[in-house]
Amino acid sequence: MRNKPVVAIDGPSGVGKSTVAKGVAAALNFQFIDTGAIYRSVALAAKRNKIDWHDGPKVGEEALRHRFAFDGDGNLLLDGGPVGDLIRTTEMSEGASTVAKHPEVRDALLDIQRLLGKDGGVVLEGRDIGTVVFPDAEAKFFLVASSKERARRRYLQLKEKDESVTLDEIEKAQQIRDERDANRLVAPLRKANDAEEINCEKTSAAEVINHITHSVVSRFP
Ligand code: DC
Repeated sequence: MRNKPVVAIDGPSGVGKSTVAKGVAAALNFQFIDTGAIYRSVALAAKRNKIDWHDGPKVGEEALRHRFAFDGDGNLLLDGGPVGDLIRTTEMSEGASTVAKHPEVRDALLDIQRLLGKDGGVVLEGRDIGTVVFPDAEAKFFLVASSKERARRRYLQLKEKDESVTLDEIEKAQQIRDERDANRLVAPLRKANDAEEINCEKTSAAEVINHITHSVVSRFP
């Protein structure tokens, strides 16, 4: 039995999981764990070492060679150092989605994610947290929004970082990633049966954060 709950927040890319999970973690004074950042860092490490993202066994080995941790603000530390925005590019979105389909990579990262959350008092966001990583999570949420709205949000984020992409390019790339994430054989993006689905299309991040926070506090005062 954990003293504090594990809060699992899953959903497709661009739905606002990070903003929501970060806000919920701050409100509950829990640690925020962005599992997508771990997959992104594996893609980055593989690229640095000239390993083909499509080579499952090699990328899996690469994943085992590194240490992944999070600082108090939820920023990923790769082998002890911050990776910052190096993992937030369009290229690394594509790389992460590609490496994430390999069973060897998912296996390598499963124990790491479980270790990070085992004592509870954590908000984990990803694609398979409620189904595979923590099927016994005390509170599970699944965020949804249309692909148009998700592409629009991603576009605004990337614009802020000065990446020169069009909305159309983002929507197309996102559709390909969504399909890959939802149709892969191992741990596909899926809502857990006992997760609450939240439609984020017209709801502000603040409202979703409030809703989840109240739901957790009411069950685990
Ligand atoms: O959430 P994100 O966009 O940072 O995730 C990047 C990729 O990592 C995404 O395309 C799918 C993969 N991923 C995954 O397969 N399982 C997770 N728990 C988190 C992310």
